Amino acid sequence: MRKKLLFFSLLCSLTGIAQSRQELLLQDDWQFSRDKKNWQTVSVPHDWAISGPFDKKWDLQTVAITQNGETQATEKSGRSGALPWIGEGYYKRTFNIPTGFKGAAELVFDGAMAQPTVSINGQNAGFWAYGYNTFRIDITPYIKEGDNLLEVSLKNQEESSRWYPGAGIYRPVTLILTPQQARIDDWGITTRTELHAQRKNGKDYTKLVVEVPIINAGQGLPVTMELISPDNKSKKWVSPAPMKKGAGKAVGTFIIPDALLWTPETPNLYKLRITLCDGNSDPNVYDDFGKAIDQKTIKVGLRSVRVSKEKGFQLNGETRKLKGVCLHHDLGPLGAAVNKAALIRQIKILKEMGCDAIRTAHNMPSQWQMDVCDSLGMMVMAESFDMWIYPKCKNGYAQFFKEWADKDITNLVKANRNHPSIVMWSIGNEIPEQGSEEGRQIAIRLQGLCHSLDPTRPVTQGMDRVDNAMNSGFAQAMEVPGLNYRLHRYQAAYDRLQHGFLLGSETASTVSSRGTYYFPVTPTDRGIHPDGQCSGYDVEWCSWSNLPDDDWVWQDDKDWVIGEFVWTGFDYLGEPTPYDEYWPSRSSYFGICDLAGLPKDRYYLYRSKWNKKEHTIHLLPHWTWGKDRIGQVTPVYCYTDYDEAELFVNGKSQGRIKKNPKERLDRYRLRWNEVKYEPGEVKVVVYDANGNAAGEQVIKTAGKPAALKTEVWTQTSNLKADGNDLAYVTVNLVDKNGTLIPDATDQLTFEVSGAGTFRGVCNGDATSVEVFTQPTMKLFAGQLVVVVQASNKKGQLTLIIKDNQRKLTQKVLIPVN
Ligand code: GAL
Repeated sequence: MRKKLLFFSLLCSLTGIAQSRQELLLQDDWQFSRDKKNWQTVSVPHDWAISGPFDKKWDLQTVAITQNGETQATEKSGRSGALPWIGEGYYKRTFNIPTGFKGAAELVFDGAMAQPTVSINGQNAGFWAYGYNTFRIDITPYIKEGDNLLEVSLKNQEESSRWYPGAGIYRPVTLILTPQQARIDDWGITTRTELHAQRKNGKDYTKLVVEVPIINAGQGLPVTMELISPDNKSKKWVSPAPMKKGAGKAVGTFIIPDALLWTPETPNLYKLRITLCDGNSDPNVYDDFGKAIDQKTIKVGLRSVRVSKEKGFQLNGETRKLKGVCLHHDLGPLGAAVNKAALIRQIKILKEMGCDAIRTAHNMPSQWQMDVCDSLGMMVMAESFDMWIYPKCKNGYAQFFKEWADKDITNLVKANRNHPSIVMWSIGNEIPEQGSEEGRQIAIRLQGLCHSLDPTRPVTQGMDRVDNAMNSGFAQAMEVPGLNYRLHRYQAAYDRLQHGFLLGSETASTVSSRGTYYFPVTPTDRGIHPDGQCSGYDVEWCSWSNLPDDDWVWQDDKDWVIGEFVWTGFDYLGEPTPYDEYWPSRSSYFGICDLAGLPKDRYYLYRSKWNKKEHTIHLLPHWTWGKDRIGQVTPVYCYTDYDEAELFVNGKSQGRIKKNPKERLDRYRLRWNEVKYEPGEVKVVVYDANGNAAGEQVIKTAGKPAALKTEVWTQTSNLKADGNDLAYVTVNLVDKNGTLIPDATDQLTFEVSGAGTFRGVCNGDATSVEVFTQPTMKLFAGQLVVVVQASNKKGQLTLIIKDNQRKLTQKVLIPVN
């Protein structure tokens, strides 16, 4: 029987090749205009605003940020990034429909900012209100053979966002052509994993249940499904799933012994190949279902997710705490224009820190980001809204909520529910209605909608007004109560809610600037400094928030806290708190990494706690101070997973100390608060639990600037010649021994030639108004990152970096294959 089925499947897929569906990325040859008069050629994904110029006049908001406890309106200059994203934008391009095409055509937009109106050959074909959501349009009625014109117009309103949303078709557009009207409904496919222990033979097995709805199935058509194991060949299971007449969907079940489960540590992905046949079988051939008329392959991760009173959050039956970060969607110098290499870099940086989850704050993620999370192993809380009916900013999503919320949740869940990385849906962030009965009703409705579309994942949302949310019953209604900050209410919420667990849906909001330190070192929730930066000692937070250390006390001491999502993994454009009123601050200070993706000191604090595979030993601050600091108290911190260490300044011991669970800042950090600066070197020696020296780190006073040192990041050993791949080149100004000049602000220039182009540059300075897309920028705290993009042709990319002031040049060669 099995043999015959395999034979059949081969027959079906082979015939399928001639007639298979086409999924075409509409990437190049778009025409773009702001006024319908002047057009330029662009590629999509595209962000029209990222080239600036930065100016406080763009979306200048005079408002009171009520979530931050403000009651009086003041000028908020960089709130949405100070980039020209407001107004209208137009895109157009042609696509070809082959002669004799009788099938169906669909366009899938993964998001367009904002309010995209789509027309085909001059006829209105569709509209979506929310700029963050994916939507699909059946364009079959509007197409013709030959060239077809696709036009998209977009509109961004002022005061519609609390951060930089980007502008334009910033996520991919795909044209799907299926050879016949009968076709697989991509977003209808569902996959459900059931883990079963101890079958008869004593072995665990996994059951995968797949449902595939068919559009225009008529009286029913045969469907087959193959599951291909992660090693791509060893095992195939074939499940014939002929539909019952009129049912419109096929159901397949796979029993997989010794399945390779998906986890962040082992992101195993199976391939599921679904084939729809026309049913015109040859009566003389056994098991012939006819010709393949559509085929779709998706990746599937076998894994289960559960939350329970007794066991908290479980992945594959194992309780674990989410070590998560919140991420806004922009990619720093690329703006909102999504790029796979950039996403991969982000996720790899986070994984190296020990992070295992992200929250897509506060909106729907891109499909590419979810693909990257699936394949690299990163759990995801996929969020939807920052507001419901009550607006947080004048022209925000609230204007659409009543008409669109259900449609938006539906698309979020349908488009994303087969991504194994997603472990939770979030229906909102700090929704102002959390204290009302109306809010409770909406929460119940949206949560119910998520469950009806996807019974396999729990639903949460981030609540900040804990008492209001409990008094109204809003918090009780949630499957996973998520608290934003409010550590002092954790115990009361746990006691009253009776869920048996709660989630730190948003934590920390600690602020810092890379490589920037102030003296004396003062832990404070109102650290304002004349240069618009925040302390790199990681001791500054906001009035509503706290330090990482404060969260960890709860994470460590209470089993029932199921994890946290730190605000934020990377700095993002807009929301420059605590400098909301200070120009030119235009991007955030919350990031564990800066806007260029460079780690701040805080990165190593989280790494010391979260990365259980490797040790961390990180000293701060830098040790290159001016004459006026000599003899001045200059505290030294060490972020390490070891509990004990001794510090030496020029060989003189500053004391051997241990972490102290009783003191707020000494439980997770080792601090020598009385060290006096003298040029030379600082060395730390860490000790393991047996008192043996286990490692050391030395930082030195830098000499004169002598060279530009570069480090190249690429996904693999070279760039792919695909026109999209990116290399990130970190540039450090160093002395002759390679020690960073930590206060350097030299102006650098960049020239790119050969098999690629200059894409952008970023130095992580939240107060910089130098545009990202010009090939020149100042160093910030001695560093910056240049982004170069591969061409379509193989060859070599050359990047020349110059520091004209010091007559330094550095050449970087990157192979493009
Ligand atoms: C939270 C909010 C985030 C961000 C953060 C800054 O309350 O959910 O979007 O504004 O504060 O601390």
